[in-house]
Amino acid sequence: MALLPILRFPDPRLHVKAAPVEAVDDSIRQLIRDMTETMYEASGVGLAATQVNVHKRIAVVDVSEDRSGPLVFINAEIVEKLGECNSDEGCLSVPGVRETVRRAEKIKVRGLNGNGEPFELEADGVLAVCIQHELDHLDGKVFVEYLSRLKQGRIRTRLLKQAQEAPQAAG
Ligand code: NI
Repeated sequence: MALLPILRFPDPRLHVKAAPVEAVDDSIRQLIRDMTETMYEASGVGLAATQVNVHKRIAVVDVSEDRSGPLVFINAEIVEKLGECNSDEGCLSVPGVRETVRRAEKIKVRGLNGNGEPFELEADGVLAVCIQHELDHLDGKVFVEYLSRLKQGRIRTRLLKQAQEAPQAAG
C-alpha cells in the first residue's frame, strides 16, 4: 500500500471531471486500498480519486467512529435527493478551512462497490453530506465553490500563501 499525495485547492487539476471506471480490476482495487489508507492517514472522512490526481469515478468514505467501515463508491450517482440541511464541511484539499454549505438532507445513491457489484444506499446525516461532497469532487467541484466569490478569493489567497511558505508540506 502507498500513501498518495493529495492535491490542494486552488490546483486546477481539482476541476477535472472524472471518467467512469470501465472494469474493476486489480489496478482499481489497488488504487482503492491506497486511497483508503491515505484517507485514514490524513484523518479524513472521505476521499475522491480526483484529489489524488486520478480522474476516475471512485470515492471512499468512512464516517464511523472507530474508522472500521470504509464504503467504496464506483461510478456512483445520486438518484434521489430529499430536504435540505446546513452542513459544516472541511476538505483534505482545503486544509484549515471549515465552512457551512447547503446540502440535501437525505439521498439515495446507486453505484458499484469495491468488488464491482451494484448497490443502492439510502443515506442521511453526516454520511449523506459526505457522499455529496465526494461525488462533487468527481465532477470537478470543491466545496468552497458554494461560497461567495469574496470568501473563495480569501481562501485561495490564504492557501497559495501557505503553499509558497511551506512547499514541502503541500500534498
Ligand atoms: Ni473534499
